[in-house]
Amino acid sequence: MKKKLILAIETSCDETSAAIIEEGKIILSNIVASQIKSHQRFGGVVPEVASRHHVEQITLIIEEALLEADVTYNELSAVAVTEGPGLVGALLVGVNAAKAIAFAHDLPLIAVNHIKGHIFANQLVKPLNFPIMSLVVSGGHTELIYMESEDSYEIIGETRDDAVGEAFDKIGRVLGVPYPGGRHIDQMAHEGKDTYDFPRAMIRDDNFDFSFSGLKSSFINTVHNAKQKNEKLDHNDLAASFQAAVIDVLVSKTIRAAKLKSVNQLVLSGGVAANKGLRTALKKAVAEELNDVELLIPPLELCGDNAAMIGAAAYINLKNKDYADYTLNGRPGLTV
Ligand code: KG4
Ligand code: ZN
Repeated sequence: MKKKLILAIETSCDETSAAIIEEGKIILSNIVASQIKSHQRFGGVVPEVASRHHVEQITLIIEEALLEADVTYNELSAVAVTEGPGLVGALLVGVNAAKAIAFAHDLPLIAVNHIKGHIFANQLVKPLNFPIMSLVVSGGHTELIYMESEDSYEIIGETRDDAVGEAFDKIGRVLGVPYPGGRHIDQMAHEGKDTYDFPRAMIRDDNFDFSFSGLKSSFINTVHNAKQKNEKLDHNDLAASFQAAVIDVLVSKTIRAAKLKSVNQLVLSGGVAANKGLRTALKKAVAEELNDVELLIPPLELCGDNAAMIGAAAYINLKNKDYADYTLNGRPGLTV
């Protein structure tokens, strides 16, 4: 039988991406154009700038994805696109491109939730074996999601304030590293030691929620007080201590959640899944505390935003003939 090929498009934030995915699991191409350089001087993503870049890039990126995969429009089975969550102006560029292609080439249109996409990035490496517990950690999200089957999502815990990636980026700004700070803090943490005593909020609470704003304030106060007293701080040690506090909370709650639901797999995803310290700590904790639970961690190129993960998630819709119509719109506040 003919292999099912999906053209997937992702434009929810500051990456313009298009991919061709075969049977929901094989990446034929995955083109990602980052806009980071344009946003860096503002210290964060400027929505208007993001939309303009997506408009400039989208057609080129889609053409490149088709070319690299050596696939033509008439070989496609469907077009998939991120409908949300994300920046509304950014989402609309992808959604309209997908609608135009679906209409012009008479293809089914598939709407994908960005968070589900992050989870399904793992399917590009190894088949998901339900039930699973997924920790989604990105610039906008920190969620523990239990999935009994491929189309059932239960949020069992989430952040009550900042997302993890957001906290990394904010303290990165305090330490003067370029936006987004996560990757730089991760590198600095590996040069430093956990010497500052930062809070591990809610670590012993009887729930699976997170809070990172207290940690962020404590970090900012430490830096501020030292400046006032003219004390020298070791930036690498600060980064290591911050990262240790984040990882302690994430790992302890995730392991507890996986135990509660007796899952087959523990699945890490999202931009912060690239964090070396988190990857190592989770591997160690799973080996020590979870018998018979397989840990899936995506390769670095599939942690951050990309269209391949959208194509992987969209395959479920294709199998179920769960299609969107031309009223499809960007949904900035969409949840799972
Ligand atoms: O998933 P993603 O690309 O975009 C969103 O959907 O938000 O995640 C981006 C986030 C940023 O906050 C970035 O600083 C963080 O992921 N990040 C990291 C690392 N690499 C990226 N955070 C910690 N350690 C890293 N190595
Ligand atoms: Zn994302």
